[in-house]
Amino acid sequence: SSFPGQFRNGLSKLGVPDEVLGFLFKWMVGPEDYPRIPEAKGSIGAIRSEAFFIPLYRLYLTYGGIFRLIFGPKSLLIVSDPLIAKHILKDNSKAYSKGILAEILDFVMGKGLIPADGEIWRVRRRAIVPALHQKFVGKMISLFGEATDRLCIKLDVAASDGEDVEMESLFSRLTLDIIGKAVFNYDFDSLKVDTGIVEAVYTVLREAEDRSVAPIPFWEIPIWKDISPKLKKVNAALKLINETLNNLIAICKRMVDEEELQFHEEYMNEQDPSILHFLLASGDDVSSKQLRDDLMTMLIAGHETSAAVLTWTFYLLSKEPSVMAKLQNEVDSVLGDRFPTIDDMKKLKYTTRVINESLRLYPQPPILIRRSLEEDTLGKYRIKRGEDIFISVWNLHRCPSHWEDADKFNPERWALDGPNPNESNQNFSYLPFGGGPRKCIGDMFATFETVVAVAMLVRRFDFQMALGAPPVSRNDNRSNNSYNRRFEDDSCAKETTFNHHNITDDNCGRRFINNHSND
Ligand code: HEM
Repeated sequence: SSFPGQFRNGLSKLGVPDEVLGFLFKWMVGPEDYPRIPEAKGSIGAIRSEAFFIPLYRLYLTYGGIFRLIFGPKSLLIVSDPLIAKHILKDNSKAYSKGILAEILDFVMGKGLIPADGEIWRVRRRAIVPALHQKFVGKMISLFGEATDRLCIKLDVAASDGEDVEMESLFSRLTLDIIGKAVFNYDFDSLKVDTGIVEAVYTVLREAEDRSVAPIPFWEIPIWKDISPKLKKVNAALKLINETLNNLIAICKRMVDEEELQFHEEYMNEQDPSILHFLLASGDDVSSKQLRDDLMTMLIAGHETSAAVLTWTFYLLSKEPSVMAKLQNEVDSVLGDRFPTIDDMKKLKYTTRVINESLRLYPQPPILIRRSLEEDTLGKYRIKRGEDIFISVWNLHRCPSHWEDADKFNPERWALDGPNPNESNQNFSYLPFGGGPRKCIGDMFATFETVVAVAMLVRRFDFQMALGAPPVSRNDNRSNNSYNRRFEDDSCAKETTFNHHNITDDNCGRRFINNHSND
């Protein structure tokens, strides 16, 4: 052991009482007296390769709940231990910032709620959270239903034509339509049309993903910045989105100026229930840049995450017919032919468990990113200021000693009449929406959104992988960027996509959708 350790042992043998030693050594013992964090050496290539957290999962089984991943001069702490995760996210959250994440997302989210830290974050969080009140979420249930109904109509047409359908891109469009309306009352209508603005949103999303895996910040290279066609396209897309947002803010301001409604806690304009409308009506005193950053952040946060959850859920369902059958039974008996209401959310218990379990197996994002702002103690280890930390939600959610049959899709693992699983009642072994002060503000919104979509789709259709479909794979190198999943990519293997042909009605009048994965 270290010198102070030996010295302390020596004094102890001489009979100096422990209390005195404790007091003395509190002042003397440096970090060298703490055990060294286990180290795994790798190449940056290993992190950048596909299947990014599959290797992290294997390293976790070897090195344990916290280890240091070293590549060249850089290192990352990988945390997969629930108590350490709780410490970082909740108990000592003040000592951590968003670090790398804020740097990567700066070009698109600026000081929006996800990357923001410190005082800006505190003020914005306090302004925005009240907008997602009960009445707002209730109103959103009908929005979810209407949007999903448009998707059903589209699938019906495809089913009649015997066409395969790529469900991943349809889910991406569904959730884009929903979040546009919810956040700033804009109808992307992307299930029907491909407008410039939809394309601009995807251009920006893709850029954020590319930056998150780039070995050097190519977007900062002086001349390259001005001549790269790709960056020009990104800048044009950002400009279009910003103009659109400015326009929406102006329209909304006029509406607020003209309306008679008194502002109160559960304030909501029926014609425009959006979060933007709430913020403007609340007299939110904020720069237009900050407002745009927040809107953009919510657009991105609420879009690809929900789309990925739906895609994975249908992939899982297509592999477990018994779960699908049970799910369809519940939906038939609770909903029949109706559109879902807020009361149904309590009754669709099994549907909710399916979403809970899908979020366990495929958390979005699979990794939470932090940087230490000061020295801290994690478990029995001491860390310095400025450490970059990846909390692997993926590892937490698949820990073989915590979960029975960790890799199995088993919604029954959550009791139907038990509480909805969350990070508190699962003690940070399950944290699909994060935890502590930076927890997702859209958790209820997103849960209801996915429950409504799943319920309405399985009531009408059966889903199966299309014949001859290539095996499903993940695009894992993208996933260290928390908020984006690639929507279409011709160079990488893609996650679940579903194709559909073969139109057979089952005896409940459901139609078969054949899913498959492709490139
Ligand atoms: C934060 C997950 C949907 C808005 C987070 C975090 C997670 C998460 C894990 C914590 C990030 C961290 O600690 O670093 C999800 C999932 C969703 C979803 C799985 C869908 C299934 C939404 C929606 C909205 C939203 C619909 C929009 C209303 C946000 C915001 C934050 C956040 C603004 C940052 C909160 C803060 O830092 O104070 N989300 N989210 N999310 N989410 Fe979500």
